[in-house]
Amino acid sequence: MEALLPGLSLLLILLAAGWGHGAGAAWATSPGGCKLMQSTVDCSGRWLSCVPGDLRGDAEELLLDDNTIQVLGNASLLSHHQLRHLSLTKNRLELIEPGAFLSSQGLHVLSLADNLLFTNYSLTAAALSALPALRMLDLAGNRLTEDMVSVLVQNLSSLESLSVARNIIMRLDSSIFINLTQLLELNLEKNYIFEIDQAFEGLQKLQRLNVAYNYLPCVVEFGLTQLRVLNLSHNVIEWFLALEIDDLFELEVLDLSHNHLLFFPVLPRQSRLRSLLLQDNQVSFYQRLPNGTSLADVTVQFLLVDGNSTNITTVSLWDEICHSNLSSLRLLDMSQNQVWYLPEGFLARMPSLTHLKLNQNCLETFHLSEEDPLAMLMELDLSQNQLAELGAEVGTRDILPNLQLFNLSTNRLQVLPPGVFTYTRKITTVDLSHNRVDLCPQPAVTGEVESPLCVDIRGVQTLTHLSLAGCGLQGLGGHPFQGTSLTHLDLSHNHHALSGDLEWLQDLALTLQVLSLRNTSLSSTPVDFSAFNSLVHLDLSGNSLTIFPTSLSILKLHSLDLRDNLLPALPPDVARTLLARSLQQVYLSQNPYNCCTLGWWDALQEVEGLRVPDGQEVTCSFSSRTLSPRALPGAVLRSCRWRTADLALLYLVLALPTCLTLLVAFVVVFLMLKEKLLKMVKSRCGVSSPR
Ligand SMILES: *[C@@H]1O[C@H](CO)[C@@H](O)[C@H](O)[C@H]1NC(C)=O
Ligand SMILES: *[C@@H]1O[C@H](CO)[C@@H](O)[C@H](O)[C@H]1NC(C)=O
Ligand SMILES: *[C@@H]1O[C@H](CO)[C@@H](O)[C@H](O)[C@H]1NC(C)=O
Ligand SMILES: *[C@@H]1O[C@H](CO)[C@@H](O)[C@H](O)[C@H]1NC(C)=O
Ligand SMILES: *[C@@H]1O[C@H](CO)[C@@H](O)[C@H](O)[C@H]1NC(C)=O
Ligand SMILES: *[C@@H]1O[C@H](CO)[C@@H](O)[C@H](O)[C@H]1NC(C)=O
Ligand SMILES: *[C@@H]1O[C@H](CO)[C@@H](O)[C@H](O)[C@H]1NC(C)=O
Repeated sequence: MEALLPGLSLLLILLAAGWGHGAGAAWATSPGGCKLMQSTVDCSGRWLSCVPGDLRGDAEELLLDDNTIQVLGNASLLSHHQLRHLSLTKNRLELIEPGAFLSSQGLHVLSLADNLLFTNYSLTAAALSALPALRMLDLAGNRLTEDMVSVLVQNLSSLESLSVARNIIMRLDSSIFINLTQLLELNLEKNYIFEIDQAFEGLQKLQRLNVAYNYLPCVVEFGLTQLRVLNLSHNVIEWFLALEIDDLFELEVLDLSHNHLLFFPVLPRQSRLRSLLLQDNQVSFYQRLPNGTSLADVTVQFLLVDGNSTNITTVSLWDEICHSNLSSLRLLDMSQNQVWYLPEGFLARMPSLTHLKLNQNCLETFHLSEEDPLAMLMELDLSQNQLAELGAEVGTRDILPNLQLFNLSTNRLQVLPPGVFTYTRKITTVDLSHNRVDLCPQPAVTGEVESPLCVDIRGVQTLTHLSLAGCGLQGLGGHPFQGTSLTHLDLSHNHHALSGDLEWLQDLALTLQVLSLRNTSLSSTPVDFSAFNSLVHLDLSGNSLTIFPTSLSILKLHSLDLRDNLLPALPPDVARTLLARSLQQVYLSQNPYNCCTLGWWDALQEVEGLRVPDGQEVTCSFSSRTLSPRALPGAVLRSCRWRTADLALLYLVLALPTCLTLLVAFVVVFLMLKEKLLKMVKSRCGVSSPR
C-alpha cells in the first residue's frame, strides 16, 4: 500500500498537468507534505525535525533545506538507495551518525551549509568518509576551525568541489587538504585566514580558488601553475609576487580588488591571464616622481625567512611587469587607485585589451599614441581623474578603432584633440559630463573668431549616447549635433545652455529617444517638443516651468519628469491626450499645485497603466497651507467650492448695477420716444407736468 501511494500521487501529477493551465501544475504534494517532481522530493521549509519516513524510495534528489533537523540518524535515509543529491542547508544539524549514509553510497552532492556541525565533527567525519562517490560538499557556515575541517575532509579523495566558506579557519598548512587529489574548486571565502603555508601544493588539479574576505597580508612565491581562477579580493594584501619561473601558468582570472596593494603586482612571466582586477588598492607607479626625479634604477629587496635560512630577492618593481607577458589580457581594472601616470609602453604590452578601467585615480594626462593603438579596446573609462589634457597623435594609423564607450566624466578637460573620433568608427557612447567643455561651433560672438576650445562631435555618425551634464555649456548655436544620430542626450545641470533659440536641438528631432533637461533654467517659454516624435523619456525637473508645455500633449512618452518646477496645475484635459495614453510613469512632486484646481490630478489617477512613483510626495497649497491631494480635508473642499461660488456672486454683484443702469436708460429713452404715451399716462393719472 505504501508503495502504491507515491504511484498514485504521480498519477495525480500527470492528471493535474493534463488539466491544469501550465506553469506550476507539474508539482504535486506527497503524503509527507513534500513536493514531488520527477525524481526530486522537495521538503524545504516545513519545520521538519527529522527526515519524513514515508517518502518515495526512488528519489535521486532530496531537498530538506530550512527545517529544524538536529540529527541525521543511521535510519534516516535507509530507503533512499538511489540518492545522488542531498541538501540539508539551514537546519540545526549537530550530528550525522556514522551509519547514516551506508544505504546511499551513490551520493554525489551534499549540501550541509549553515548548520552546527562543529558540535560532533568527528562522528560526522566518520559518516562522510563512507561516501566513496561524493563530488561536491558544502560545509559553509558551520563554525569550523582548520583542525575540524582537516578531520571532516580527511578521506574524501573523490571530492571535486569543496566549500568551507564562512567558518573560523585562521591558518592553512600542507596537512589540511592532503588527500583531496581530485579537487577542482575550493572556496575559503569569509574566514579569518592570515597565513597559508604550502596548503595547496598537493592539489594537482585545483583550478578555482577563492580566498576572498580573509586577512592575508601578502602573497609571495605564488606558484600554482595549474590554477585558472584565483580570488584574493577583500584581504589586506600589500604585495603579490609570483614565482620567477618561466613555466606557463594557466591563470586566467586574478582578482586582487579591495586590498592594500602599493605596487602593480608581479605577475607570472608566462600566463593566460585574461582578467586582472585591481580595483580599490593603492597602486601607483614610482619611476617618475612628481618633482621630476626618476626612480628608474631603484630596486626593492624582499627578505624571505623560512626557519633558519634567509633569502633575499631583489625586485626592480617596474622592470618586473615588463617581464610578464600580458598579451592575452582582456580586462584590466585599476579603478580606485593612486595612479597619476602610466609608464611608457605600459599599454603596448596588452594588445588584446578590450576593457580598460582607470577611473578614480589621479591621472593628469593620458596619451593615446600610435605605438599602443589599443586596437581591440571597446571600453575606456577615465572618469574621475584630474585630466586637463587628453593627448592624441592623430596621424595615419588608427587609434582606438574598436572603441564603443569612452567615459571622460568628472575631469578638468576643456577640449578634446581635434579629430579624436576620426578613427573610432564604432563609438556609440561618450560621457563628457562634469568637465568644462563647450561644443563646436560656438555661437558667433561679434568680433571674435571661432574659439578652438571646443569639442567637435559633428559627423560622428555612430554616436548614439552623449552626456554633457554639468559642463557649464554656454548657449549652443549653429548645428553642434549635425551628422550624429543621438538617441540619448543628457544636458542636465547646464544653466546657460538653453538660453536663446533652440534651433540646434531640432537636428536631433527624428532620432532622440531620451532627453534630460534637468536643472537647465527652463522657464515658461519652453522648447517646442512637437517635432520630437521618437522621444520616450523626458526629464524637465528642476526648472522654472509655470505652464505645462502644450507641445508635449501629442508625444508618445513613456516617462516624464516634472518635479521641482513652478506648475500651479496641469491642463484639465491632460488625461485625455495622446500623451496620457502612452505614459507609464510621471513624476510630479515639488510643484506648487493649487488645491482648488486638482481636476487634472483626479483624472490622471483614473488613467490605466500610469504610475506616479512620487505620488506620496505630491502636495498642493491652499491659503499658504501645504496639503496632500490624496486626502484633502472636507473643509478645504467645501472652501474651494465656496470660493468658486463666491466668485460667481462677485461677478453678479459687479454686473448688477451696470445692468440696472442700462435698463433704466433704456426705459427712459423708450419713454421719451413715446412722449405721446407719456402724456396719456400723465393725463390719466392726473399728475401735473413740471413745464
Ligand atoms: C550507527 O551506525 C554505526 C555504524 O554502523 C554504528 O557504529 C553506530 O553505533 C550506530 N548508531 C546508532 C545510534 O545506532
Ligand atoms: C580515514 O581513513 C583512515 C584509514 O582507512 C581511517 O583510519 C580514518 O579513521 C578515516 N577517517 C575518518 C574521519 O573516518
Ligand atoms: C571574488 O569574490 C568576491 C566575493 O565573493 C566576488 O564578489 C567577486 O565577484 C569574485 N571575483 C571574481 C572575479 O569572480
Ligand atoms: C624629489 O622627491 C623625492 C621624494 O620626495 C626626494 O627624495 C628627492 O630629493 C626630490 N628631488 C628633488 C630634485 O627635489
Ligand atoms: C632560498 O634560495 C635557495 C636557492 O635559490 C632555495 O633552494 C631555497 O628554498 C630558498 N629558501 C627560501 C626560504 O626561499
Ligand atoms: C636551525 O638551526 C639549528 C642549529 O643551527 C638546527 O639545529 C635546526 O635543525 C635548524 N632548523 C632548520 C629548520 O633548519
Ligand atoms: C561614467 O563614469 C561615471 C562616474 O565614474 C558614471 O557615473 C557614469 O555612469 C559613467 N558613464 C557611462 C556612460 O558609463
